[in-house]
Formats: sequence, structure tokens, C-alpha cells
Amino acid sequence: MENNTMKYIRDPRLTDRVVTAKDAASWIKDGMTLGLSGFTRAGDAKAVPTALIERTKKESLKVNVYTGASLGSDIDKLMAEAGMIHKRMPFQADPTMRKKINQGEMLFVDQHLSHMAEAIRADVLCPIDFAIVEAVAIDENGMIIPTTSVGNSSIFVEKSKHVIVEINTAQPIELEGLHDIYETGMQGKRDPILLKNVQDRIGTIGIPVDSEKIIGIVFTHQLDSASTIVQPDEETQIMANHLIDFLKREVKAGRLTNQLAPLQSGIGSVANAVLHGLIDSEFTDLEVYSEVLQDAVFDLIDAGKVRFASCCSITLSDEKMKHVYANLEKYKERLILRPQEISNHPEIIRRLGLISINTALEVDIYGNVNSTHVRGTHMMNGIGGSGDFARNARLAIFVTKSIAKNGDISSIVPFVSHVDHTEHDVDVIVTEQGYADLRGLAPIERAPLIIQNCVHPSYREQLLEYFEEARHKGGQTPHVLEKAFSWHINYEKNGTMRQHVNQI
Ligand code: COA
Repeated sequence: MENNTMKYIRDPRLTDRVVTAKDAASWIKDGMTLGLSGFTRAGDAKAVPTALIERTKKESLKVNVYTGASLGSDIDKLMAEAGMIHKRMPFQADPTMRKKINQGEMLFVDQHLSHMAEAIRADVLCPIDFAIVEAVAIDENGMIIPTTSVGNSSIFVEKSKHVIVEINTAQPIELEGLHDIYETGMQGKRDPILLKNVQDRIGTIGIPVDSEKIIGIVFTHQLDSASTIVQPDEETQIMANHLIDFLKREVKAGRLTNQLAPLQSGIGSVANAVLHGLIDSEFTDLEVYSEVLQDAVFDLIDAGKVRFASCCSITLSDEKMKHVYANLEKYKERLILRPQEISNHPEIIRRLGLISINTALEVDIYGNVNSTHVRGTHMMNGIGGSGDFARNARLAIFVTKSIAKNGDISSIVPFVSHVDHTEHDVDVIVTEQGYADLRGLAPIERAPLIIQNCVHPSYREQLLEYFEEARHKGGQTPHVLEKAFSWHINYEKNGTMRQHVNQI
């Protein structure tokens, strides 16, 4: 342990702070607020939350849990099962937690990921009692060197009363040097963020911290949970091809070059498939400025297609994790990990002119997008970074399969049952049927294009009927208000959105 201590805790002021996870968890009191590291299953604090979950089996306790995004290691699931969460924010993606949220057993604040740090900095949220962050080491200067995600860790550390560091020796020490931690400062008093290229470094390689705040250091040895990504299937491959056709058209029109523009791709199997599709394309020297890097980005680097990738989290399948960890020195030349406030910052997204690709649950005939709420009421995962990117990107693209649940749901509906991305923020919609480029189109030009190009054939006529009836009523964005949610109501009552079942 002594060698370990010196290798991983290089600041001599901190070597006597090593404690067990159980001891650290015992400091947490009912009603406290915790800021946990972790972003889409990567770099999450593992040992102390697990010890806390164990504690709640013997005593009742509720805490607020703030994170970067979703957690791995089943921590969201186990915390939800233990009933120990009062309020969770800003994102989750766990089926058990989703159920508890939708049953009203815990509170969930679904928040733009880049806004969380601003809210904490401005003291809008409950003060953070403990920041619990995973690290590969604490360096000579007392800086915390994060692991596979940065997320909100730096703002948690800055604003919390106390800090607990989990040094995870299963995470490769070669991650050191990969991070770029930048603090924006208070709104109204800050400088422009001088990040002009995807690869620019503007901060420090670790999280600066007042060493007095670190009251415990816990050693752990546990890899991140593998991503649950589903590999591309025939349909996602077809969607990827449509999207690539659209991008080729942009190049032909002279609006993009073969280098495209920095790419952001959201979570999910479709977004991963789209990136995969770029491997065999003519596009070269690509750049990625995204939130999460999934397997596909590393495949693109291996294929010589991506020259640089910036993100705030790396979430990989088991196999890819082994490969990336074994070759980290090579990948390090092409990667940077930043706080989510910076990876998702509107100023930078607009400056770099990103092409952003995210997934919709449902889309309506005018281009409004619902990414979060099933039938307008039940939370799926959360908006994540999709709003940060879509609102500010050069090209905001949303992908979705045209039907769900064996065809009983059409993903294109008369009116979305919840709006995450308004028609003003959506440029292109892609389904396996084709794509609709909505730029420069008025609402009454958008609807026929979306219906023709994106809707599943079994719903096309039905949707056209709705649009025609709406047009008779007139208006800039015509609707038959009493029928606008009839498709959702029909699904609730009859298990299908189809009105003319014999049309199938
Ligand atoms: N109505 C109801 N359910 C629908 C639906 C609709 N219109 N469209 C899809 N679904 C269901 C699917 O049937 C599937 O259900 P299952 O889990 O029971 O099989 C589930 O929603 C997920 O759909 P899937 O097609 O597998 O999509 P995905 O894994 O690519 O996830 C989102 C899609 C929208 C849930 C996901 O991308 C998300 O959470 N996005 C918001 C956050 C975000 O965009 N972040 C981006 C920045 S990283």
C-alpha cells in the first residue's frame, strides 16, 4: 500500500488521508447533497456510493444526487432500489430509476448538461456537501487527475464543502495528460473561451483543489461498466446511408468540404451506426467535438478517418475498452477530455460550426422533436446534451426509426406530445425511409416533405389526411387541435396509432 500511496498520491500533504469506502460513506448524513463523478457509465465514483447503498439497507437515509450524466456499475439502479434518492439531476438512463421517477417515488430534474455547472456556480441549487470523484492519481501539485470522464467533477470539487477522491487503480494511469480542465468564472465577469480548434488546450491537466477540502481518499480497483450499445443493424445502416447522402449533397453544393465540420454524435445505437457508416465514405481528416465518444470514433481513428476528437467522456464496449486501454499512448495524441460545460458550450459549438446528430423519440410534421417523454408524460432518459448541441450547431440533425413497437407507434406524429427541440432548432430529420432537409422551409412546406421522405408507408396516408384537414383550417402552422394528440390517445386505448388497421 505504501508504494501505491506514493505512486497515486504524489502530494505529500495528502498521503495520510486514505480511508475505507465504508468510513467515507459513514460521513454522509440524511438530507445531504452529493456531487458524483460519472458520465454515461464512464469515470463514475464506484466504491463510496456502493458503500452508501449498503448503509441504507440498515438505516433510512435520503440524499440529492448530482452527476455529470448517467452512472455505470448499476449505481443508479441500486440507489433507486434502495429508495435513497430525494432528487436526481441532470440525466439518468437506467430502467429501474426511470420506473421510480415515473411512479413519483423520486424527483428528477431533466436539465441541459451544459447548464448544470452554471446553476451550481450561481448557487441556484442545493449546496453540495460532498464531491465524490474518481481519479487515476493526485499529482505533485495536489490536482485531481480524473479518469474516463470529466463531466461536472471540476465544478463539484470547486463548490462542495468536502471532497472524497476515489483512486481507481484499474483505470490506466496513462489517462494522465488527456484532460483539459478549464473554469469559466462567473457570468458577467468572464473572458471569451479561447477554444478555436477542436484540439486546443486552454486549461490544466487536472482539477485544482484546496487540499484542506480533501477529507478522504479511497483506493478502488474496478473497471467502468461496458457500454450497452447495440451494434448497427440493417435499418440503422440504411439511416446512416441516408445521412451520408445528405452530407455528400452538402459537399457537392460547396457548403462543406470532404473534411465536413466537427461532428457531435449523441448516445444510442443509431448515432453510433451513423458514425460507423463514415468509415467507408470519402470523408477524410474528420474532427469530433462531442460529449461522449463511443466505439465508432475509435474505429474511425483506426481507419485513419478521424484526426482529432474532443469529448467529456469515453464509453466503450468491453472489447473496445481492452483495445483502447492497450493502445492509449497512441490514442492520446488524438484525444482531449474536457468538462461537460466546455464540451457542450454554446459559444464553442457555434464558433466551430458543429454538425450535430442526435436521436429523437418522436418528431412532428413541422419538425418539433421529443427526445425524452414517452407519450408526453413518462421520462425516458433526459435531454442530455442534445439541446446544447441542436440549438447552436451549424446543422442540427435528428435521427429516428420511422416506427416503434412493431409498427404500432409512428415516430412521426401530427403533434409531438412533449417538445425538447422546437422546429426552430431542427434542420434535418432522418429515418430509414429517407431524409427531410427543413432549412429555409415554412411549416406548410415542411409537412409534405417530412411525410413523403421520412414517414413509414403504413402511416403516410393517415398523416397526409391530418395535414390536409389542418390546412383547411388555415394558419401559419395548421393543426386540428382536437385531433393533434389523437394518435397518442389511440395508442393508449387500442395499443396502436393506426386508425385504419386494414391499411397495414
Ligand atoms: N414512442 C414510444 N416509445 C418509443 C418511441 C416513440 N415514438 N420511439 C422509440 N421508442 C422506444 C423504443 O421502442 C425503445 O423501447 P425499448 O427500450 O422498450 O425497446 C426505446 O424507445 C429506445 O429506442 P431505440 O430505438 O432503441 O433508440 P436509442 O437507444 O437510440 O435511444 C433515445 C433513443 C431518444 C431514448 C436516446 O437517444 C436518448 O435518450 N436521447 C436523449 C439524450 C440525448 O440525445 N443525448 C445526446 C447527447 S449525448
